Amino acid sequence: PLPVPYRTPLPVPTVLRPVDTAGGVDRYRVTQRAARVPILPGVDTPMWTYEGAFPGPTIESRRGRPVTVTYRNELPVPTVVHLHGGRTPAESDGYPTDLVLPRGWRDPMDGMRHPAGMAGMADPRAVVTRSTRTHTFPLDQRPTLLWYHDHRMDFTAPAIWRGLAGMHVVRDDAEDALGLPAGPRELPLMITDRAFAADGGLAYPALDPTLRERPGVPERYLAGVLGDVILVNGAPWPVHEVDAARYRLRILNASNARHYELEAVTDDGRRLDLVQVGADQGLLAAPVAQRRLPIAPAERYDVVVDFAAVPVGSRVRLRNRLGTGRTREVLAFRVARKAADRSRIPRVLSRDLPTWHRGDAVRVRDFAFRAGRMDSGHGWLIGGLPFDPARSDVTARLGDVEVWRLIADVHHPVHLHLVGFRVLSRGGRRPLPTDVGLKDTIALRPGESAEIITRFDGYRGRYLFHCHNAEHEDMGMMANLDIV
Ligand code: C2O
Ligand code: CU
Repeated sequence: PLPVPYRTPLPVPTVLRPVDTAGGVDRYRVTQRAARVPILPGVDTPMWTYEGAFPGPTIESRRGRPVTVTYRNELPVPTVVHLHGGRTPAESDGYPTDLVLPRGWRDPMDGMRHPAGMAGMADPRAVVTRSTRTHTFPLDQRPTLLWYHDHRMDFTAPAIWRGLAGMHVVRDDAEDALGLPAGPRELPLMITDRAFAADGGLAYPALDPTLRERPGVPERYLAGVLGDVILVNGAPWPVHEVDAARYRLRILNASNARHYELEAVTDDGRRLDLVQVGADQGLLAAPVAQRRLPIAPAERYDVVVDFAAVPVGSRVRLRNRLGTGRTREVLAFRVARKAADRSRIPRVLSRDLPTWHRGDAVRVRDFAFRAGRMDSGHGWLIGGLPFDPARSDVTARLGDVEVWRLIADVHHPVHLHLVGFRVLSRGGRRPLPTDVGLKDTIALRPGESAEIITRFDGYRGRYLFHCHNAEHEDMGMMANLDIV
């Protein structure tokens, strides 16, 4: 039986301790391993985890202070870890074929690689054969909520579904000085949907449940895999006791395919303002009061909500307007007590947002995100092509500003690695109120076009852009972005 909404307390993932901080570098170790995780009441769910937990432990960092993470793979399959939203050198970005192989792994695809997918692995020297890999993250970037997740070629969706996702917060002194709600009044919220089997195990329609050989899902899941249980920080429809005060909610949609449109509703049906202070890539220039937050897979919102506006003893529910039945419910806050509140929302939040103009762009590119046929059956294509790690798709010069025009057949949350971008237009019109700030993922709606502008700076090397509907990504909707 499914749990009753708003009984389970909201968990907050533990913050990982560095094993060493010498020389101004925070060094972490993270083991990827199978574990039984308490999710539903009374049963444990077998999952694949970072450090035995779902979500994985949160990493807390300071801007410009480098971090290294040594990932050990004790799972029965290869893994790849990517820090989503990180400004990361290419060799640490978690390219889908930079596999961390489990000890004793023999490539089951030898001699039977499927043509498009595994082409990049045809050269055995391209495969890293060790069960640990150390990534270096300079974190020379605007403070924001990042997340780390699996990014293995063709198997990202089932790996994330099984639990390979965690959060990573970057902060700096300027943000700390703003006086936004902090400490227990700042909550990271990873929202995911999952489906469960009768025994409490996760239900995912993988063609090969071992996730070793054949990637993909049956054709009826082409649009993506949805669950009927909404988890926040790994708990089903949790409830959190709050003071009658402002809270800062760092919201991440880590679902494979589910879109939400969130609103904060009081017991008597009023909608509270969700005051947006940040987007995927950090603080806005100024706060924007939102009533609804459309959030696609991989997007983040940083919002402040004031629980002083509702009576003590009552509830505020975070609800999903796009859901039906139980998937309309997400999370509840129970206002437990009056309390002093010295937090504030300053009128100016940041002054370092890039202001690129169309005239700065040296190039305009067009990309169509559409369903199509690939060798292995139906798939999702960018510009008519499925992902091929051996093909160069886009070559951009380091430092260049470019405008990209994106067009979609159905919903596609499009994500660029390495850079943040701004939304210039949607459907030929002004962007949505929620398109403010610096983004790294834009939710294209069915039939919609959008223009984004960015500057390719940071590092040279091979990066990616792709749809972040994780099933679409696995079914080809990804391309190489070479920065030269
Ligand atoms: Cu969230 Cu290519 O990543
Ligand atoms: Cu898509």
